[in-house]
Amino acid sequence: MSVIRTEGLCKYFKDKKALEELNLEVPKGIIFGYLGPNGAGKTTTIRVLLNLAKPTKGTAYILGEDIRKSRNYLRKVGFLPDVPNFYNFFTAREFLSFIADITGIENPKKRIEETLDLVGLKNEKSRIGTYSRGMKQRLGLAQALLPDPELLILDEPTSSLDPQGRKEVLDLIFSLKGNKTVFFSTHILTDVERICDRIGILKEGRLILEDSIENIKKRYRKRRVLIEVDNLEKFSDKIKETLPLNFLEIKDNSIIIEVSDIQYTLREIPKLIVQNDLVLERLEILEPSLEDVFLEVTSGV
Ligand SMILES: Nc1ncnc2c1ncn2[C@@H]1O[C@H](COP(=O)(O)OP(=O)(O)OP(=O)(O)O)[C@@H](O)[C@H]1O
Ligand SMILES: [Mg+2]
Repeated sequence: MSVIRTEGLCKYFKDKKALEELNLEVPKGIIFGYLGPNGAGKTTTIRVLLNLAKPTKGTAYILGEDIRKSRNYLRKVGFLPDVPNFYNFFTAREFLSFIADITGIENPKKRIEETLDLVGLKNEKSRIGTYSRGMKQRLGLAQALLPDPELLILDEPTSSLDPQGRKEVLDLIFSLKGNKTVFFSTHILTDVERICDRIGILKEGRLILEDSIENIKKRYRKRRVLIEVDNLEKFSDKIKETLPLNFLEIKDNSIIIEVSDIQYTLREIPKLIVQNDLVLERLEILEPSLEDVFLEVTSGV
């Protein structure tokens, strides 16, 4: 059973189509990265999934429950909003205790200590007002984790953090893998590359790509090739004449080409080298970064 499944989910604000026909599936136990530039509809999706906004059309099933028919599933979902708010005069322990009271968590003392330990704030005695952003974000995660939810929904948990803070938060999310299902939105590609199993890319309210990181990279893999030869100009002219290229760039002492048929290209390059009496110094297939994939996908649709 999928933990999240949306069916033709739409959310319109007057004429603005913030979400259009979203069909998304998040299997149990994975970390799903929901990527998209500003205004793509990430927060809107999350608000609809959490029953904070009503879908205009379509629906979603969370842990098997239809969000239009029930709110019971919310007890099994932990949520970190994009801009979490805290009472600055509390310590972390007091804050979690307050959350446990208002949400009716059983056996709160034990659970609070376990959670503080998990997010690395167990020995932190100072008030929240003195916390760094990274610490606040970890406390936000603690609050989301406190009820021991099956699903965690995190809205941009790493935005506004410096590299060290981001690493801490990502490591923490990664440590939950398998035990919980995590759905988190971000516009930071390296975050998803680091910890996600699957990603969805949203653009202007539409899901334009959804797959495992592995497949996505495979799909775009081996399309850029770097070549170094003893006479770059000559080789560049020859290659332009002979091979169907999407793109060619001469950079430093290399030629980078982008091709659609990698097998053909790899057969033809050595032939061209020999025919033109050149010396091959380097031939390398370049791995695409998610940045490449993201730019290609978001610009081409
Ligand atoms: N309550 C609202 N009323 C009108 N328009 C809205 C409302 N909420 C969101 N929108 C619009 O819907 C679109 C998607 O917004 P959303 O906040 O979901 O994007 P996002 O992907 O979370 O962006 P960001 O990365 O900036 O957080 C935007 O064009 C936004 O202006
Ligand atoms: Mg947002």
